[in-house]
Amino acid sequence: MTSLYVHVPFCPTICPYCAFHAVRRTPGAVAAYLDRLRADARALAPRLAPLETLYFGGGTPSYLRERELVALLDLGLPLAEDAEVTLEANPGTLNRKRVELLKALGVNRLSIGVQSFQDPVLRALGRAHRRKGALRAVEEALAAGFRVSVDLILGLPGQDVEADLRTAARLGVGHVSAYTLIPEPGTPLGERTEPDPDREAEALAAARAILGEAGLVRYEVSNFARPGEEARHNRVYWRMAFWAALGPAAASHEPADAPGVYAVRRTNPPLFRWLAGEPPKEEAVPPLEHAKEALMMGLRTREGVDLGQLEARTGLPLKDRLLEAAAPLREAGWLEARGSRLAPTEAGLDRVHSLVLSLWEALS
Ligand SMILES: C[S@@+](CC[C@H](N)C(=O)[O-])C[C@H]1O[C@@H](n2cnc3c(N)ncnc32)[C@H](O)[C@@H]1O
Ligand code: SF4
Repeated sequence: MTSLYVHVPFCPTICPYCAFHAVRRTPGAVAAYLDRLRADARALAPRLAPLETLYFGGGTPSYLRERELVALLDLGLPLAEDAEVTLEANPGTLNRKRVELLKALGVNRLSIGVQSFQDPVLRALGRAHRRKGALRAVEEALAAGFRVSVDLILGLPGQDVEADLRTAARLGVGHVSAYTLIPEPGTPLGERTEPDPDREAEALAAARAILGEAGLVRYEVSNFARPGEEARHNRVYWRMAFWAALGPAAASHEPADAPGVYAVRRTNPPLFRWLAGEPPKEEAVPPLEHAKEALMMGLRTREGVDLGQLEARTGLPLKDRLLEAAAPLREAGWLEARGSRLAPTEAGLDRVHSLVLSLWEALS
């Protein structure tokens, strides 16, 4: 495996829309977390080739204190020379000193959770930062030479979507993740938010237009990048390649060595059960399930899925069947075939869910 995800579950406050595994700091918890992480990293190291991508996600990795960040970035794992090392950060946790420390520790890409540059929207989302802090954080990160991605949530009540997109474009970041709010069950905001598909579709159309004008190409349903600045780590997920994972609630996708099994997914328990030594949940992924997942993830991206490779990987005779099932979807202008590769068109990216369901039918 040449990709690793490390989950850092600590956050200064818990946002009312978030369903990721996130907890407040409690005395001793970060030290115990780092000890356990080091031990797990030592055990994992022999199974890793030099890492091409390393991703610290959360939670809020940038919320850790200086010496904790030093320990986090020094897990003793083999890194390729040009590895992409990403760290997720909240604007309120970034200042010049922190940005310089992260640079010195080997991080080269920051994914900054801005969500909006408008104070009333940030307040409604329960975010700790405001416009000024978000602008300063992005500018500091760019000035320090990081590749910067900005996360936005679009289509929120009262939000001037175009203004938020223009601000992100004007700042000169090379990558924007433009989501719409997922009303996560069990979260305070999720329980009281009704999705508004029209407003969301308008927001995504604005993202295509404004970010496109700034040279950021939509290369995945919610992700836009200047060519060359695509997220290499996330590509590993979209290609359903293999990756390792460390930390509470982190999930890996690893090669399997049992007959009839394509991969194994291992999901760690949440923080306190993980600290208590509870083992990960293991699920065997048979070849057909892998084929379905690879279609679901690959069709989210403009590069699509190489059906020839998928056939070879799974040993299932699926290429011709899928190309046949794709014919009406190609005629409708939603899919295109390039050699043995099947990929969504720009219009297809807006209806990936129904495209995937149609193709899955051909596999059942
Ligand atoms: C796991 S969060 C971690 C980043 C960082 N802690 C933060 O909040 O800025 C990564 C991104 O997921 C997105 N996100 C989280 N919950 C979401 C939701 N319910 N709907 C849409 N996007 C969400 C946000 O854009 C966020 O920046
Ligand atoms: S800061 Fe990020 S990870 Fe933490 S609760 Fe908020 S959205 Fe979730």
